[in-house]
Amino acid sequence: MENPGKSQDLLAAFFLLAEGALPPQAKPRDVSPPEELRRRIEVRAALPEDLAWVRDLAIRSVIHGIPDSRDVPSSQVQERAHEAALDLVGTFGADPDLRILVAVEARSGELLGYLVLELGHREASTGEPQALIRDLAVEPRAWGSRAVHHLVREAARLTFRHGLRYLIGEVTAANRRPLVVAQRMGFVIERHQIAVQCGPEGLLPMPGRPATVPEAPETEPPPE
Ligand SMILES: CC(C)(COP(=O)(O)OP(=O)(O)OC[C@H]1O[C@@H](n2cnc3c(N)ncnc32)[C@H](O)[C@@H]1OP(=O)(O)O)[C@@H](O)C(=O)NCCC(=O)NCCS
Repeated sequence: MENPGKSQDLLAAFFLLAEGALPPQAKPRDVSPPEELRRRIEVRAALPEDLAWVRDLAIRSVIHGIPDSRDVPSSQVQERAHEAALDLVGTFGADPDLRILVAVEARSGELLGYLVLELGHREASTGEPQALIRDLAVEPRAWGSRAVHHLVREAARLTFRHGLRYLIGEVTAANRRPLVVAQRMGFVIERHQIAVQCGPEGLLPMPGRPATVPEAPETEPPPE
């Protein structure tokens, strides 16, 4: 039933706000979650029919992982990702240590994101077996939907069930979104990758990513 007192309160708050009568810290904040956050998200193992979408999103997302210090054309990186994705799809199911999880909107089954998990990884310095998030991406329209949290949590459970203690990932320094999410979830930064350009006299500064990166010359798309 409608509560007339409540709507009057809301109306009063609106006028107070409109007049700037409330101090900034007392202004009511809109805490209603965006539409995406109200989705119920489920995570399941990828099915063969999901793979074309996984491959497509992987190719679209790979540019987010290019370090800011490199001048490689995006199209060249995407072409390489295309080949890697074909390999991944080709070997799907054959390697028991390689798993693909997908996050779906429970009601519609809409695919929101994927995570590629490698269960046979080892930490380089200690030799401890561990799991590696080989790739992870969420559809841009589902950014902020918490799909990434569901995917990573399920990957952690799978890692534990596999008898492994640690789950790791590699994040490009300039790619702030996964870094922010990971740290919020409890991941710690264990290692830094350093890079320098080399020339005849020795060390040179890295080229850096120009505002407009020259595209690679047109090439035939690799065969499916
Ligand atoms: C990485 C990815 C899976 C994260 O999922 P997501 O749904 O975007 O993550 P969320 O929106 O929950 O969280 C991202 C947070 O980073 C914040 N953020 C974004 N850009 C930022 C920046 N430059 N500096 C600091 N924080 C930033 C966002 O504001 C958000 O925080 P909020 O929830 O307080 O608003 C998704 O962005 C993605 O698919 N990116 C492309 C592929 C990719 O980079 N994969 C990772 C490879 S390791």
